[in-house]
Amino acid sequence: MVDKRNSMHNRAMADTVQQIKDRLSIVDVVSQYVKLERAGASLRARCPFHAERTPSFHVSPERGTYHCFGCNVGGDIFSFVEAIEGLDFKGALKVLAEKAGVELVYERGGKEKKDERERLFELLETTTIFYTSRLSDAAKKYLKERGMTDATVQAFRLGLAGSDWSALSDFLKSKKFTEREILEAGVAKKNERGSLTDKFRNRIIFPIADSAGRIVGFSGRIFGENASPDAPKYLNSPETPLFHKSRILYGFDKAKVPIRKLNCAILVEGQMDLLASHQAGWGNTVAVSGTAFTPEHAALVKRMTDNLVLALDADEAGIKAAGRAARTALQGGLNVKVARLPNGLDPADLIQKEGADAWKKAIRDSKDIIAFLLEVLEEHLPQKDRFRRAVETIVLPFLSDVQSPIAREQHVQVIAQRLSVSETAVYEALAKLPTANADSRPSSEALAKEDKSKAPPSSSRAYGRARQAFAILLWQQSLSQPSIDVAAYARELEEAIGSATFAALSTLSEAEREALRFSAERLHGKSASAKKEAEVLLGVILRELLAAELDQATMALKKAENVKDEEEMTRLTGVCKLLTTRIAQLHENV
Ligand code: CTP
Ligand code: MN
Repeated sequence: MVDKRNSMHNRAMADTVQQIKDRLSIVDVVSQYVKLERAGASLRARCPFHAERTPSFHVSPERGTYHCFGCNVGGDIFSFVEAIEGLDFKGALKVLAEKAGVELVYERGGKEKKDERERLFELLETTTIFYTSRLSDAAKKYLKERGMTDATVQAFRLGLAGSDWSALSDFLKSKKFTEREILEAGVAKKNERGSLTDKFRNRIIFPIADSAGRIVGFSGRIFGENASPDAPKYLNSPETPLFHKSRILYGFDKAKVPIRKLNCAILVEGQMDLLASHQAGWGNTVAVSGTAFTPEHAALVKRMTDNLVLALDADEAGIKAAGRAARTALQGGLNVKVARLPNGLDPADLIQKEGADAWKKAIRDSKDIIAFLLEVLEEHLPQKDRFRRAVETIVLPFLSDVQSPIAREQHVQVIAQRLSVSETAVYEALAKLPTANADSRPSSEALAKEDKSKAPPSSSRAYGRARQAFAILLWQQSLSQPSIDVAAYARELEEAIGSATFAALSTLSEAEREALRFSAERLHGKSASAKKEAEVLLGVILRELLAAELDQATMALKKAENVKDEEEMTRLTGVCKLLTTRIAQLHENV
């Protein structure tokens, strides 16, 4: 596969990138998408990549970069356009070149050679047009019977694959696509005689788009009298360079703006359910197709909102799938609610049988996953004892996936009340759960509060301060007119935090460094004197260092006293005195 940035090695391309950067400031680009307001040295806005009430998205005109403290994304004008438009680097380059009025030079010799991905996109678009043109009256009638309007059929570009063996392949060949490209796009297979057979036959076709709306694959539902009774009801494109089931959510390209606006996404299972839901007024619906909900899916949703409503089938398989999806979503930091559908109905059925309002209500009435589980269990297990055990084995694992310490604490309170036990008991039961992925999660503040031994060690706090002080260094270094003597500060800092920590901080990735610059700027950018703050911080670090040393010396002194080691006692008393004096001096200086 061709590396998408390969062409970057081309000098002409690098020049183009620089030209664009010279002409377009980060503020020019970002302000077309979000409203920026001044905040000290930087500008800030509500983050366009995740839902939030208070702005944590910062833009530095000086460095030409952006960073969001809420969702931890950042970069330059190119990565911004890639992310917000859902484009790859080349796509962003095109958009920005146009804005900047810079002409794109592709290749010396002028012969424009499109790369492989571009060809595949084109092939899939051509395929989509082919399928939509084949949508028969019978297929239209079927879709209408299932409640789909013409507008929905058109917006989602539904099509039909007929019963011919190779109608699509032949068409694509006539459009000068090669066999290799047709196979690579996943729309045909080679048969025993070595010729191409279309992958989808006798199926209604649902084109699947990436987040920018470009078609990357298809899902096909069995349709027509020639369909084999043994064929699976749904068939999806295989994994291809463009189509990765685990990363693509059906309908996301259309849902992303409504999701941001409503600050909530709805997850259904299947194409028909998605179409019905969009049509019934929930444009913020996305669907998995033919796969489980993955961490990548969760991250995709999380770019737009923190809130996910699960509306999966109410049959047994659906409930199991909902449970797994819920845990994945919780682990991805999403708040999860569950919509309870009348038994046996999926969203499409519900909407068709009981109308759009029933579906709207089901979504509005959706319950937080933990409350939902408690409710269901209580209904099924009226005996207190069995209910309690079920809560422990079924509900607590979900609770342990909840990332927000505040939300978790609230749930613990509810559960403790429902079981008439103390909150401590619930925390203890939580702590006893097997921790399959415990270290991938941030340690729970709630747990730490209950169990003092789990409080973060002071060394991690010291490291936090060291990072903060290091952040000031990085930030000041990036300014054309720093307000402190950078070299001197670097020396003092290294001394205060120790060269090992200093070296460790120096190896942080550029993305992490950039995040640190922004955090320093945010913390100290407003104040008139960053210098004073840097000094104060260094003072605090030194004081903590000395205090820790004093602690150790005092402990050693106690030991020495216990074993009556006179010589050691004298030495350590001296050390303690010295440390105490230096700490007192630091206090005076600040
Ligand atoms: N699915 C699949 N392969 C199958 C069956 C199902 O990929 N063999 C996926 C499809 O995305 C499908 C979803 O799982 O939309 C739900 O399947 P199911 O509940 O069986 O179908 P419905 O969505 O109810 O299909 P329809 O309403 O069109 O009958
Ligand atoms: Mn259905």
